[in-house]
Amino acid sequence: MIKVQGLTKRYARTVAVDNISFEVEKGQIVGFLGPNGAGKTTTMRVLTCFLPPTAGTATVAGFDVLENPHEVKKRIGYLPETPPLYPEMEVSEYLTFVGRLKGISSADIGRRVAEVTERCAVGDVRMKLIGKLSKGYRQRVGLAQAIIHNPDVLVLDEPTAGLDPKQIIETRELIKHLAGDHTIILSTHILPEVEHSCQRVVIINKGKLVATDSVENLTNRLRGAEAVALEVASSNGPLDPSIVQQRLEQVTGVSRVLPREVKEGRLAFEVESLQGRHIRADLARAVVNAGWNLNELRTVGLSLEDIFLQLTGAEKTAAPSTQHPEPKEA
Ligand SMILES: Nc1ncnc2c1ncn2[C@@H]1O[C@H](COP(=O)(O)OP(=O)(O)OP(=O)(O)O)[C@@H](O)[C@H]1O
Ligand SMILES: [Mg+2]
Repeated sequence: MIKVQGLTKRYARTVAVDNISFEVEKGQIVGFLGPNGAGKTTTMRVLTCFLPPTAGTATVAGFDVLENPHEVKKRIGYLPETPPLYPEMEVSEYLTFVGRLKGISSADIGRRVAEVTERCAVGDVRMKLIGKLSKGYRQRVGLAQAIIHNPDVLVLDEPTAGLDPKQIIETRELIKHLAGDHTIILSTHILPEVEHSCQRVVIINKGKLVATDSVENLTNRLRGAEAVALEVASSNGPLDPSIVQQRLEQVTGVSRVLPREVKEGRLAFEVESLQGRHIRADLARAVVNAGWNLNELRTVGLSLEDIFLQLTGAEKTAAPSTQHPEPKEA
């Protein structure tokens, strides 16, 4: 349904998207994953005919974005990073306005507005001014305008960014319900979003394609890398880091132990488990049984960076990398 081939987009000196290719099958939900500045929004703007590609091609339902933008736009619903809402319009009035712009006849418009109002659960605010809506409701209205002309393809740019946890769950549900009839590509910079909503994932970083895979394969590949940060201190006299490391390596289920930091007699390590193994309890026991103090033991979330490093086969550096990707500003 979507076919991107050798797509490149350059802004003056920045190469925002660098020769990427991927395909999205009809009816699939595909996650477009990448950190800030990866080129997600740029790719989506090309797909939705807002920006011409510098090189390469993109087609939607067989229509080229450069040659047949009109046909492409008919088939695409787009929720940009900031939904194009008019604060001084009421929800119903706005949806009617957008629907008419998108070519829905006056005979059909009432029915379509009622349908998307129901589908996106904005019925209780339909007479409210958009400017007075909460962020979550505004996002739903954004989705409603994206689907008003019943497009085959939905392009959603970070649809859950800036929402509270409850709104995130609601929006994910809504997207899942839309999935049956629509092909959906949604961008995000956090992995859980993809795990929750998508069947396939396209990962980009600094404009380049890193991987495309099914979400199942991706999470299987990642499962082995669950990491635990651990800090050990001596109760009497200095500790030999290599002895501690050896002891941790002997714990069942441990795949590798990375020394992190030595500070005033405290030793920090990052310990990775084998696929699907829980090692925290055994690690704690090993440390305590050896007569050492366990200062800290916590699971280190897989950051997007870790995933990229894994997928690109690069080695992790010895620097502490317990950071999570920062949530994007709303
Ligand atoms: N209008 C523009 N003019 C110049 N450079 C731009 C423009 N828009 C984006 N860029 C640059 O292109 C690159 C990709 O940006 P893009 O917005 O596509 O990334 P993104 O993956 O959507 O990031 P984010 O997660 O922050 O939304 C960045 O280096 C950005 O600075
Ligand atoms: Mg973006």
